[in-house]
Amino acid sequence: MEKLVIRGGTKLKGTVIVEGAKNAALPIIAATLLCKSISIIENIPEVEDVRVLLDAMIELGVKVKKTKPNTLEIDTRSIIKNIVDYEDITRIRASYYLLGSLLGRNNEAQVPLPGGCSIGTRPIDQHIKGFEALGAKVNIEHGMIKAKTKKLKASNIYLDVASVGATINVMFAAVLAEGHTVIENPAKEPHIVDVANFLNSMGADVKGAGTDIIKINGVKELHGAEYMIIPDQIEAGTYMIAAAITGGDVTVENLIPKHMEAISAKLKEMGILVEEFDESIRVHIKEPLKNTHVKTLPYPGFPTDMQPQVTALLAIADGTSIMTEGVFENRFLYTDELNRMGANIKVEGNSAIITGVSRLSGAEVTATDLRAGAALVLAGLAAEGETIVNHVDYIDRGYVRMEDKLKALGADIFRVRSEAHQAKLHIV
Ligand code: EPZ
Repeated sequence: MEKLVIRGGTKLKGTVIVEGAKNAALPIIAATLLCKSISIIENIPEVEDVRVLLDAMIELGVKVKKTKPNTLEIDTRSIIKNIVDYEDITRIRASYYLLGSLLGRNNEAQVPLPGGCSIGTRPIDQHIKGFEALGAKVNIEHGMIKAKTKKLKASNIYLDVASVGATINVMFAAVLAEGHTVIENPAKEPHIVDVANFLNSMGADVKGAGTDIIKINGVKELHGAEYMIIPDQIEAGTYMIAAAITGGDVTVENLIPKHMEAISAKLKEMGILVEEFDESIRVHIKEPLKNTHVKTLPYPGFPTDMQPQVTALLAIADGTSIMTEGVFENRFLYTDELNRMGANIKVEGNSAIITGVSRLSGAEVTATDLRAGAALVLAGLAAEGETIVNHVDYIDRGYVRMEDKLKALGADIFRVRSEAHQAKLHIV
């Protein structure tokens, strides 16, 4: 198991470049199955979740070629089956996008029940509700979700939860369904809009993504397209917190300020200086961090994927803060690890009461999921002494070379790759 070793206390300074959005890239890559053609997708983040999804698609018969850094040519002209049995696919949540795209392409799909971070039960009832409304028969047996239909037909679908995955999957099944589909109470995250824009570039007719109602006119067929993924709002936010938690001065480049509004607003409430430019944000500190209260909500609310990172920051702010998790039911597991570093966090139901401490202290901790892992690294950057973060594979699922980017900002951080490597470290 790989580890990151961090020696805290350095104020980060400099510029960091944001990658393409993981949670846009995953559905957009899966969406290429909706056409029998070649698509060119740019700004794909080279993270583990993307690699796992691509491996599963290659096993279906998709041809993938890397034409330049972060750019893939995806050839979906012929696939050999509609059953995804690639054993690694259960490690990621985004496997369910293969359900919607294969169903949209061939009127049938079989995909293992999704995996993903342990932050709650992660049901897929809204995905199934959408597929059934569009005329598919869906059942779950032996850990596989099976969806089949003679012909997808348009429908009106009200999502009981503004689910990102369900919104996208219903769009996939509806774009080729004859008639006019309406999705009410859809998710409105930036990556929903990005997926809709990609589908329209393939010849689909999707209107209203990012608003409270999405309207889709089914078309006969889709064609390949060239597309560039939007910047990753959560990676950008994570590096903004890295600047703030170390009392540094960092410019985060290649982002869309509008997507960062909720995060920037909370940092400003904490007395942090946040300067917005066309495609970048500068974060620096002039005064001690102030406490504040945060509630995570679907976009445009404060993003749940930034919850652990901001909690780590609030752990060293003056006064008491309250973090309320409004999206998932169990996303505070990592607070025990922060408390091992000297934080003072008490979880009550779906809220965490965070009493600020003057300094965290380095300790050996373990990531419990992707964003929790990022939060523990951020805490290590601010802590006195050495922090070891175990289970770095979680972090690699959603961050590109995090230690290299932090090192370039002045952080004292390195990765321990194997037991042998660790033995060498003791010699050093
Ligand atoms: C996506 O997960 C992201 N993952 C998550 O990011 C992100 O936290 C989440 O959206 C919310 O923004 C990917 O895009 C691969 P949801 P998803 O369906 O689609 C409930 C990360 O760190 N729900 O919007 O699974 C669900 O239990 C990951 O990058 C149902 O009840 O999230 C949750 O409480 C972590 N029934 C809420 O909706 C359903 O059928 C939001 O889930 C589906 C969801």
